[in-house]
Amino acid sequence: MAYRTHTLKEINRSLENKTITVCGWVNKRRDHGNLIFLDIRDRYSLLQVVVDSENKETFRKAEEIRSEYVLQITGELRKRPLGTENTKISTGEFELVASNINILNRSKVPPFSISDEQKDYDEKLGLKYRYLDLRRTDKKENIIKRHLITNTIRNHFLENDFLEIETPYLTKSTPEGARDFLVPSRLQPGTFYALPQSPQLFKQILMVSGFDRYFQIVRCFRDEDLRADRQPEFTQVDVEMSFVEPNDVMTITEELFKKLNVQFGIECDYPIKRISYTEAMNKYGTDRPDLRNPLEILDFTEILKDTKLKIFRSVIEKDGYIKGFILKNKECHPTRPTLEKINNMAKDFGLPGIAWILFDGSEVRSPIAKFLSENEISSFKKTFDLGDKDAILLAAGKDGLLEALGSLRLFLGNEFNLVNESEFKYLWVVDFPLFEYDEKEKRLNSVHHPFTAPHPEDLEKLDTDPLSVRSLAYDIVLNGNELGGGSIRINNTNLQSKIFKLLDISPEEAQIKFGFLLEALEYGAPPHGGIALGLDRITMLFTGAKSLRDVIAFPKTQSGTCLLTDAPSQVDRKQLDELSISVNIKEEQG
Ligand code: AMO
Repeated sequence: MAYRTHTLKEINRSLENKTITVCGWVNKRRDHGNLIFLDIRDRYSLLQVVVDSENKETFRKAEEIRSEYVLQITGELRKRPLGTENTKISTGEFELVASNINILNRSKVPPFSISDEQKDYDEKLGLKYRYLDLRRTDKKENIIKRHLITNTIRNHFLENDFLEIETPYLTKSTPEGARDFLVPSRLQPGTFYALPQSPQLFKQILMVSGFDRYFQIVRCFRDEDLRADRQPEFTQVDVEMSFVEPNDVMTITEELFKKLNVQFGIECDYPIKRISYTEAMNKYGTDRPDLRNPLEILDFTEILKDTKLKIFRSVIEKDGYIKGFILKNKECHPTRPTLEKINNMAKDFGLPGIAWILFDGSEVRSPIAKFLSENEISSFKKTFDLGDKDAILLAAGKDGLLEALGSLRLFLGNEFNLVNESEFKYLWVVDFPLFEYDEKEKRLNSVHHPFTAPHPEDLEKLDTDPLSVRSLAYDIVLNGNELGGGSIRINNTNLQSKIFKLLDISPEEAQIKFGFLLEALEYGAPPHGGIALGLDRITMLFTGAKSLRDVIAFPKTQSGTCLLTDAPSQVDRKQLDELSISVNIKEEQG
């Protein structure tokens, strides 16, 4: 006989007064003397089971049953007595009156309670006993939602004529800015594969082959310092298209997010706003601004150009700026103690100080009040339409000022409760610079990766002023998180070689690392471009999870450990010998 006649998803009115058999885990057991209640959990729901002491054999079994035992229960599905229904669960109208219970397996006492009521358990314990953690509704739901999101994504690309093509995991290093995970080759001692940081080069080569529209939901590996929004192995929705301009890639991506929004009942404005990297930095101090926060960085340098305040003056004389924020009373209700607190925290944002001005009736309250002229005050009021109890925050600086104000903006958003957590605000950031200057190495680095095409209008500046060259790159941002990034690629060997040269990659090094790509570009590479989206981040934002760990079935900790399997771990001497590897760990000092 089959183990079960029904899953808990299938419990409905048509089964009332019928005999059914269900299987599941004991979520809770309550002993009421003559009656024992068992809440049974399966993948879909919970069901209350009642065992009456009159049914002696079954009652005796129910007495020995504990949490997390796996049971097969046969009984009659009956309507619960009036007033005892549970509207929180899908089976809440019913209970199963057990005629027979079969204990399929016992369980040790779990190290933490699996019932949803207990929230505060050690995350590490949850990761070690991940199989138990995943029995909890919130964790389980996240994994199910991830599956549904993946389906929508796959269908979207399939419906649009994309081919799903796999690329190798054992491969050569692809530069995406992180360290590689290396895999030693046994057959060719002393040589290593690199696990892909992304399938970047393979997807470009697929375009050379003529596959025209490719996608892959693919694992990527990056050995970098981990944060809540990073994992050493993560999943990309990797996309590449031929004969396209940035707008084509952005449109197909936008269509995908429209579908995900519908799926999750999220409303937002279309088309998604596009702003340049420069505008993002100037207004928000970051290339991934959270647009739910209404504050924008403003420039007060012009109003304060003749300021009597020495520190401001000396910054302006050295081509620096006075920038900051207006805190409107209507949105923020700034008070003197809060403004003082913000100034005291200036260093946390990388600012030497934050001067504030509070317009309090006819009074101007500010630690720099005596340096402010009538003229400056009236200019502030007029230019920014300031009213009673509105305030200004001012910071002086040059390099790094915008980034510092970007972190202050995040803080102010929280402090004044300006961010509506339930809102979804997307943004495209375009026209990224092609290069950034690496102070430590004293050379140029790619802002995205070295295969990104320069903006055609800026080609001439490659030789004269490379740092001012824009690229055909675009990032999609949601609520302050970078969901994905892509670009139009270079499809010309000469230009690609030139970019390598500017990046201080010698022709020999370029040949060794990417010779295969350079050569492929010489055999009729079509114009092409694409994007990669972070599936884990998308799932985190759509499920409202706080960390990537909550949306990955078997995640790693901050230090890259899998607490369930205890990887990474030491291996046998024999295994190392086969790989011609000797481990040389320096003794820790002290
Ligand atoms: P990029 O490096 O911007 O681009 O990666 C694309 C997206 O992948 C996600 N992501 C991560 N998610 C979790 N943990 C990580 N460690 C991690 N690193 C990246 C982010 C990011 O936006 N080949 C290019 C794409 C292209 O040009 O087509 C690339 O990999 O959501």
